Amino acid sequence: MSAKDFQGRILILDYGSQYTQLIARRVRECRVYCEIHPFNMSLEAIRAFRPKGIILSGSPASVYEPGAPLSPADLFRLGIPTLGICYGMQLMTHILGGEVGKSPKREYGRSELFIDDAQDLFAGLNQGTSIQVWMSHGDRIEVPPPGFRAMAHSSNSPVAAMKNEGLQAFGVQFHPEVVHTPLGKEILKNFLLRICQCPADWTMESFVAKMVPSLREKIGEERVLCALSGGVDSSVVAVLLHRAVGQQAMSIFVDNGLLRKDEAQRVKEFFGRHLGLNLKAVEAGELFLEKLAGVGDPEMKRKIIGHEFIFLFEKEARKIGGATFLAQGTLYPDVIESISFKGPSAKIKSHHNVGGLPERMNLKLIEPLKELFKDEVRQVGQELGLPREIIERQPFPGPGLAVRIIGAVTKEDLAILREADAIVEEEMHRAGWYTKVWQSFAVLLPVCTVGVMGDERTYERVVALRVVQSVDGMTADWVPLPAELLGTISNRIINEVKGVNRVVYDISSKPPSTIEWE
Ligand code: XMP
Repeated sequence: MSAKDFQGRILILDYGSQYTQLIARRVRECRVYCEIHPFNMSLEAIRAFRPKGIILSGSPASVYEPGAPLSPADLFRLGIPTLGICYGMQLMTHILGGEVGKSPKREYGRSELFIDDAQDLFAGLNQGTSIQVWMSHGDRIEVPPPGFRAMAHSSNSPVAAMKNEGLQAFGVQFHPEVVHTPLGKEILKNFLLRICQCPADWTMESFVAKMVPSLREKIGEERVLCALSGGVDSSVVAVLLHRAVGQQAMSIFVDNGLLRKDEAQRVKEFFGRHLGLNLKAVEAGELFLEKLAGVGDPEMKRKIIGHEFIFLFEKEARKIGGATFLAQGTLYPDVIESISFKGPSAKIKSHHNVGGLPERMNLKLIEPLKELFKDEVRQVGQELGLPREIIERQPFPGPGLAVRIIGAVTKEDLAILREADAIVEEEMHRAGWYTKVWQSFAVLLPVCTVGVMGDERTYERVVALRVVQSVDGMTADWVPLPAELLGTISNRIINEVKGVNRVVYDISSKPPSTIEWE
């Protein structure tokens, strides 16, 4: 399957805005397929993509700055409707002969937009009324390019939106993609459905309907391997493959002994017995523990787990033999990150996945989810009939509980952490908070503190609770959970988990902290 299977394709050119991914997500929410590409994509490549519309993103740059990301004027003469957002609008103005200047006052935050022309982009709104929008700019349009007319103004921007009907070019100074522009989605919808005339054909039902035969065709009579972890992404990949080629798809599940309570059992039961996947479970808990014995350094722990995983996976794959493909649950944000002209972000922790395996094993890569955002993967999971507990699963790191036990990992500590973690999960579910946060988990500290139980003095371990909110795991905020819920979790852990007499709450955000403790 490729993007070409969907008629209403939108191209988003990225000039470096922090909101570019958000634009893409909003477009997808309008059921229109879109892709983000760097601003310097060639005109031939743009033509070949055959977009029904082009959106030019914002940027922290100013069009007059040396080195500002620019585009050729011919971009607007391809006969494809365009929408410039913030910097995108300034760029349009600059290139097409208008005038951009410094705003006397930087406009940042909520602002009132007065609609002067309630057609096209603003169809459905009332002329002369105002709406709330989100602005974030230092430059503004002083004179629109020839052929353009203002469509709206704000107290700081005489031209806060503009259009050229002949070119089908539109610009808005505000950000329709953020939630602080409550009618933003309607405005984007007007561009996508009314101006570009995209059919709203991007649904996860149609994705599955197209992906399954396309996988079948690609794989043919060959065999495909898949690393199943029980997380959302790999589960969806495994089930998609199972649908497409049945027993030709072989899922390998490595039980590294570092999983949550009952997790390994659940994965085997559900995917193996219930769904009938061709599943090979590798029991390696003891082996991982041996390799990790006495190792306290976080990076060392991660490296050992990563290497061991790859070693076992490779061994199993050779035993099975004859595979041509390896399927991986790469998501669209990973793809965007790797093609971004801003370059990859700095490596803070080594991540554990099947990276490097395809080359070593001479396998061809299949990435059926590489066009999807996480919420879309969840919808695909739903389409495929996966149970809610898998679809709603919070992210779980590849090295598992090993990076939540500070210092060297032991069997005893794993048992303590598993119990504490299960209580956190249960209470978060019970209070309806589990799906409202990005992650909620327990961390076992290598510290003993004094306590008292009955008349006895105790000297036992400390558990830290980590509950964070995040959009993509890159940045995160700690969540102020209700005191009552915190109290319940703490009481239960101290009363029910042997070896723990104190619970503390982690109130650090990322940056400067990270989500996992190691
Ligand atoms: P950090 O701790 O870097 O975590 O702030 C960011 C997000 O990534 C998850 N994480 C991992 N996921 N393999 C993964 O697949 C890993 O090695 C790994 N380490 C951290 C973490 O749970 C959080 O959601």
